[in-house]
Amino acid sequence: MQEMNYNSSYETAVAISKKIEADIVTNPAKYRVLTGDRPTGRLHIGHYFGSLQNRVRLSKLGVPTMILIADYQVLTDHDAYQEISQNTKQLVIDYLAAGIEPSENVIIYPHSYVPEANQLMIPFLTLVSNSELSRNPTVKEEIHSAGLKSVNAGMYTYPVHQAVDILFCKGNVVPVGKDQLPHLEMARTIARRFNEKFCSNCVPVFPEPQALLSKTPSIMGLDGTQKMSKSRGNAIMLCATEDETAALIKKAKTDADRHITYDPINRPEVANLLMLISLCTGEDPQLIAEQIGDGGGGMLKKNLTEVLNDQLRPLRQRRMQLEKNPDYIRQVLLDGSQRAREIAAKTLDEVRTAMNMVI
Ligand code: TRP
Repeated sequence: MQEMNYNSSYETAVAISKKIEADIVTNPAKYRVLTGDRPTGRLHIGHYFGSLQNRVRLSKLGVPTMILIADYQVLTDHDAYQEISQNTKQLVIDYLAAGIEPSENVIIYPHSYVPEANQLMIPFLTLVSNSELSRNPTVKEEIHSAGLKSVNAGMYTYPVHQAVDILFCKGNVVPVGKDQLPHLEMARTIARRFNEKFCSNCVPVFPEPQALLSKTPSIMGLDGTQKMSKSRGNAIMLCATEDETAALIKKAKTDADRHITYDPINRPEVANLLMLISLCTGEDPQLIAEQIGDGGGGMLKKNLTEVLNDQLRPLRQRRMQLEKNPDYIRQVLLDGSQRAREIAAKTLDEVRTAMNMVI
């Protein structure tokens, strides 16, 4: 078995992603989108602009969309299992508030609720080597940044489980950031090896899934230097009030130059705030900077507060309504799980047949 190569080029992934993007608009039914998040907390505006808006757009185009909540994956590097259920429900509230509409074709579910899919983990583990698991660059980075003293086997094997997440429903498009590309490589490798090994006399069971890379530039936190993240304390949460949003923006880091210009290299903090305005209004960040000019950081922050609160107002109102309706949130998850199980059972049948295990 030829060892997997994690270094396949970013440029190739970008080119494939662009092709899919152009085609998916006219041929939505050719695709099945599978995306997911770990239930580690509520979502912030980085998630909103970076991925939620895109999921809403794809589902509204008519692309079958599976939104998976990776609850098992939390156990790879977090001890906080007490919060998983609560975080799962908060994720669903954020999804629905952002405009995801669950239906026959748009489903939301935790992967722990789909036993027929999880069963694929066992044959899939036989299709990769230990060294391939331990060389995964994203896993290595996560171990490093979480400062783990001992690493459980789930940490090394979750990319195989992520292949299960994607392949059980024959997902062929996975909207992700660059950090997830090694996992996509793993999913493609498993699909290919399965088909080669077990499907010489039948039709291939699995497609080779591709990444759909986000067009939104990565959104920095309000400190302007690191990626926005709740744990770094530099995020604006979707559930924040308008006053909290204003206070956070007021404290955001800028620089000593009073005249506002758009210069992402030399003035990353100011550029990030301009980019956020641009994401709300659709205007060019350069133009926004020129309009503010000598208005300085004060006017920049005031404008951002206004447009961001305007943009999020309907979402936040829906959010508050949904918070009052926990039974509905639970039902969305149960319906989604039910539908995912039907899909998984069909795939599991095909897998058993291919592997010659039907009794
Ligand atoms: N690994 C992803 C993350 O850390 C979450 C995830 C699990 C996922 N399964 C997935 C993402 C399947 C896309 C597709 O954010």
